[in-house]
This record gives sequence, C-alpha cells and structure tokens, in this order.
Amino acid sequence: MKKLIAGNWKMNGSWAEARILTEKILEGIAADKGVADTCEFVIFPPFVHLGVVKESLTDPDSPLTYGAQDCGLHENGAYTGEVSAEMIRDFACEYVIVGHSERREYHHETNEIVKQKAAIADSNGLKVIICVGEKESEREAGQHKEVVGAQLVESMPENASVENTVIAYEPVWAIGTGKTASVDDVREMHGFIRQQLGERFEEPERVRILYGGSMKPDNARDLLATDNVDGGLIGGASLDAEAFLAIAKSA
Ligand code: 13P
Repeated sequence: MKKLIAGNWKMNGSWAEARILTEKILEGIAADKGVADTCEFVIFPPFVHLGVVKESLTDPDSPLTYGAQDCGLHENGAYTGEVSAEMIRDFACEYVIVGHSERREYHHETNEIVKQKAAIADSNGLKVIICVGEKESEREAGQHKEVVGAQLVESMPENASVENTVIAYEPVWAIGTGKTASVDDVREMHGFIRQQLGERFEEPERVRILYGGSMKPDNARDLLATDNVDGGLIGGASLDAEAFLAIAKSA
C-alpha cells in the first residue's frame, strides 16, 4: 500500500496562494517520478479555495487529489454556514476530514457528532479521515490508549468500511507545537489502533493509519518507517511545497 501524504492547510492563505501552492506541489511530484510510486497525495484547502485547487487538478490520473476539512452534520436544509457531504462530493472531492481535534475543541464536537458526520460522508461516497488523539494531561495520566480506543469505537459509523476509512492519530499536544511523539509512542499507539480495527474489520491492515502532529522533513523518515504508520496528516509543513514534498520523499 502506498503511503498517503495528506496536507491539512487549515485556515490559511489566499486563493492566489492556494493556486501557487497546488501548482508547486504538482510540479514537485512530476519532477520526481519515484515519489508517485511510493506515495499518494491529498490536500485539504479551506472550502472557499477548493475551486482554484480543482481548476489546477484536471488530470484524473494525478497522484494528487483534494478534499474538505470538515462537513455538515445534516443532509441539507436550513443550516447557515454549513457545507454538506453531498456538496463536497459534488465538487469532486475524494476525501473529507472529520473529528479534527481543533473541531472537537473549538466547536465542541463530540464522538457522536463526529460519527454522524462520518456516516453522512460515507453514504455520499467520500473517503473519511477520522481523527483521534489524546490531550497532554491524558497522556500524562496514562490514559492515552483508553481515550483513543473510546474515540475510535464511538466515532466510527456503522457504514464505515476498510475502503472508505482512514484513521489519523494526532496527539493534541503535538499539533503545531513542534513537539513530536517519539517513535516508540507512535509504534505503540498505531499498533493499538490496528488491533482495535481488528475488532471491527476482517482486514484491518487495509485501513490506513496516518500520524499527525509536527511532522516535518527532519522527523518524517523515522515516523513514516514506523510499523503501522501508513502516511502523515501534515499541518504547518504542508503550506510549503518543498517541505511537503521532502516529507513524501523521505517515505
Ligand atoms: P501540524 O503539522 O502543524 O502540527 O498540524 C498537524 C495537524 O493538525 C494536521 O491535521
């Protein structure tokens, strides 16, 4: 299975910058054929920049695709400010992220909400990246597996399958802080997640498990070589085409 190198742009950049960044990533992939043999790429621009990204990504065989950072909880209707999974799919997005810790924290999204969003995204044919991860206090208290185990069970919808599900393990204390989980911590947690997926799916090895949290060119090689790490969900470093591609090359 190829590594999935995912760039979560969060709430950054202008539409002109989104176009330039997309084109630079495309050029970088084209310039290094080997990288597309080992990696698939997906970028997550803000909703209003999906249009310029879509315009740059016209080749259906491109190893670079795009997705949305979140989706609405409902099918459609009077939900001001929301964007539905159906609209996201209609925009030819392949992926959607649900349950990012920033949504869980700043928008009070519970596992139940994340599960409903994932269910709607699944039923609209999107591949769903479900994010899980413990807070620093939970790790210090030795509760990290318990927390992540509960998030997994409670956030995965009934219609989740090995084809449409990706799990991103993002320890909250490692996001945007420059602190990365150690290779041993990542190996332990990804092994645990794989085991939990085994309770749910017959072929748990077909579900990609991404690591996210201060992944950079200088630590990506070790993280991506760790057992059960099938790619990265990259924030800050995905805003710089060179850094994003350097992470992929290290895979
Ligand atoms: P950073 O790579 O900036 O730590 O962000 C990780 C993340 O939250 C990706 O979704």
